[in-house]
Amino acid sequence: MSTLATHTGYEPALLKAARMESTGRTPLWIMRQAGRVLPEYRKVREKHSLLDICRNPELAASVTLQPLERFDVDAAIVFADIVTPLVGVGIEVELVEKVGPVIDPPVRSRGDLERLRPLEPEQDVPYMLEALRLVRAELPDEKALIGFAGAPFTLATYLIEGGPSRNYAATKAMMYSQPDLWHGLMGRLSGMVKTYLLAQAAAGAQALQLFDSWVGWLSRRDYQEYVFPYTREILSAVKAAGAPVIHFATGSGGLNEVIRESGADVVGLDWRVPLDEAWASLGAVAVQGNLDPAVLLGPPEVVREQTRDVLQRAGGRPGHIFNLGHGILPQTPLDNVMHMIDCVREWDGAHAS
Ligand code: CP3
Repeated sequence: MSTLATHTGYEPALLKAARMESTGRTPLWIMRQAGRVLPEYRKVREKHSLLDICRNPELAASVTLQPLERFDVDAAIVFADIVTPLVGVGIEVELVEKVGPVIDPPVRSRGDLERLRPLEPEQDVPYMLEALRLVRAELPDEKALIGFAGAPFTLATYLIEGGPSRNYAATKAMMYSQPDLWHGLMGRLSGMVKTYLLAQAAAGAQALQLFDSWVGWLSRRDYQEYVFPYTREILSAVKAAGAPVIHFATGSGGLNEVIRESGADVVGLDWRVPLDEAWASLGAVAVQGNLDPAVLLGPPEVVREQTRDVLQRAGGRPGHIFNLGHGILPQTPLDNVMHMIDCVREWDGAHAS
């Protein structure tokens, strides 16, 4: 039976948890839950490219809803990519199979900044906003709709490197050697991300996640100087729209002391840090996470043990959203995903107040 057609009339548990209210049920979703692991998604991909799916609101909406048909998750995340707003302003991005976004030519000079004109969401990414509206209309009241954007640093790495990178050498070289250019680029990207997230909230996204996927490669001092002011500015502008913001960064354990000042409602934890220790260092914010996605490649008893470990560290405190500590890996067996979710629900059942 579809999990979509169950009950109506409830505020999503995820939104309550984002406000640190108790929920009676641990809200759960899975980063990169739409796409990659689902056979029904792969079927769609046989006929359509990734960007085709994004540009077709009906198709994007149906792919967004696919994981909810299969799994007992508490949220849908709109199907798009972090490069969607870049494509919207006319940057030439190719999404290369098994590689990721490739941008040729890359952004390396002051003149290149002109390629990053301000985003006008209704003109530049209307399909994305329409997909949000379509999903919101279909989604039961108790499920949250999440919008998202890549954070300026993570977007800057693709623009400067021209694609995925191992060490972000060109990005860091620009940061250190041409700080004016760096700040010019970050300023433009921040404007874009802010406008993009606000448009998503207006189109029906009830929570917004900012993915700063590669910022864990920076030292704390560089993060603080070259990146954090933009994050804080985006979050304060977006929070004014009323949708809670989840700030997620990979490898961010060393940065939590700074991130705790970001104004995020929810801090996404990567799997490297024990949840209870990270939460203690963050203070009074909600947290999301943080099972290692690779655990789902192990046997069911390890999935169970490690899922329960995350839950025990959260200790049933209000403000925990269960998730992986980064995106689900494409080769993950679906049975293990089901098993992880069952373990969370079983734990909820045993600890219901
Ligand atoms: O994983 C993260 O850190 C999340 C942030 C992020 C997304 N895209 C969000 C996303 C990042 C860093 C990207 C860049 C990107 N885009 C990569 C990674 C490359 C690298 O540098 O390692 C890749 C492979 C793409 C292309 C892409 N985007 C594909 C092939 C797909 C569809 C199938 C899949 O593999 O997930 C996407 C969709 C996408 N990118 C979604 C999101 C949130 C929507 C799917 C979902 O999360 O439910």
